[in-house]
Amino acid sequence: MVYHGLKGITCVETSISHIDGEKGHLIYRGHDAKEIALHASFEEAAYLILFGSLPQPAELLDFNEKLIAERPLPEHIQYLIQRLPENMDDMSVLRTVISALGEASYTYPPKTEEAIRLIAITPSIIAYRKRWVQGEKAIAPSSQSGHVENYYYMLTGERPAESQKKALEAYMILAMEHGMNASTFSARVTVSTESDLVSAVTSALGTMKGPLHGGAPSAVTKMLEDIAEKSQAEKYLAEKLEKGERLMGFGHRVYKTKDPRAEALRQKAEEVAGNDRDLDLALHVEAEAIRLLEIYKPGRKLYTNVEFYAAAVMKAIHFEDELFTPTFSASRMVGWCAHVLEQSENNMIFRPSAKYTGALTV
Ligand code: ACO
Repeated sequence: MVYHGLKGITCVETSISHIDGEKGHLIYRGHDAKEIALHASFEEAAYLILFGSLPQPAELLDFNEKLIAERPLPEHIQYLIQRLPENMDDMSVLRTVISALGEASYTYPPKTEEAIRLIAITPSIIAYRKRWVQGEKAIAPSSQSGHVENYYYMLTGERPAESQKKALEAYMILAMEHGMNASTFSARVTVSTESDLVSAVTSALGTMKGPLHGGAPSAVTKMLEDIAEKSQAEKYLAEKLEKGERLMGFGHRVYKTKDPRAEALRQKAEEVAGNDRDLDLALHVEAEAIRLLEIYKPGRKLYTNVEFYAAAVMKAIHFEDELFTPTFSASRMVGWCAHVLEQSENNMIFRPSAKYTGALTV
């Protein structure tokens, strides 16, 4: 028996997150991720994922201080970012630069201090590179701002409005962790050889880059731009379904009901965009798409997935499409690190077998 893509195979035990696809629940360390996203900060959620429980005030203070201390980019990293070709895509830059953090001090087993450094420094790398390519002066991290606000500030030079910050924060919390997805699996495979944390997250970044995983919110954005008017939605969507094409931002391998992340993000998108025309169009397209999917694909349980409203949130806070996958990665860095630490606590090297289908001459 060959399990292509390891579909349906359980290969680790984890206490980090749990997905109930039928009920539409995502659980972070025993807590409802949707509630965490709506009410906690990035730092609280990251602490929960990394250490297993929500922080006490003193623990949170200490964690925040450590994250702030690790934000600045070392000189050799700034130098490297400046020298990478301008046409290199953002994910390749991030993968290369993170890899260059792998100094001799990173050894097996991985340590939580290393995880904190990687979580703290990733937004700085993304922002520094973005501004460098645009010919803009780099902005030093702000020690007065939380993780998410600082990321926005280093990218734009401006403080986000409270609703913008909350929307981006909810997205970054909901993107933090999602079970045994492909990039997390990559990270665990790498550390299972007793390699180091930087190597593990570099593997994860390479895996995240692929469009089947890192997502293509631009496909959702493009669909909404193509539809342009509410009156065009039904015709556009029905034509796609008639041709056997898929509607971007709908359906999920695990969730067979509404993706809880999409629900929470819609709430945040509504708070930031209010009666904005783009959001009004997105809400209308969502309703039409779900109605038409029920007609064209009855019984398949196709609902809105996280990408649909992630795209809406990114648009509402004026982030370009190119920032989507790097921002997703800056969030998922937390989950990758937690899984790498967990793997190293009870390690066994991943070594599945392959069924040989070539010639036999002996
Ligand atoms: N639009 C139209 N039909 C769909 C869609 C969709 N978005 N998704 C699934 N279907 C249909 C399929 O055509 C298939 O129909 P059939 O039974 O007549 O052949 C049926 O539903 C089941 O499809 P599968 O591909 O087996 O479903 P699976 O659960 O494996 O697919 C996936 C999940 C890949 C996400 C799929 O729903 C899809 O392609 N969606 C659109 C792309 C998208 O939004 N991707 C982002 C996912 S979220 C994330 O990755 C973070």
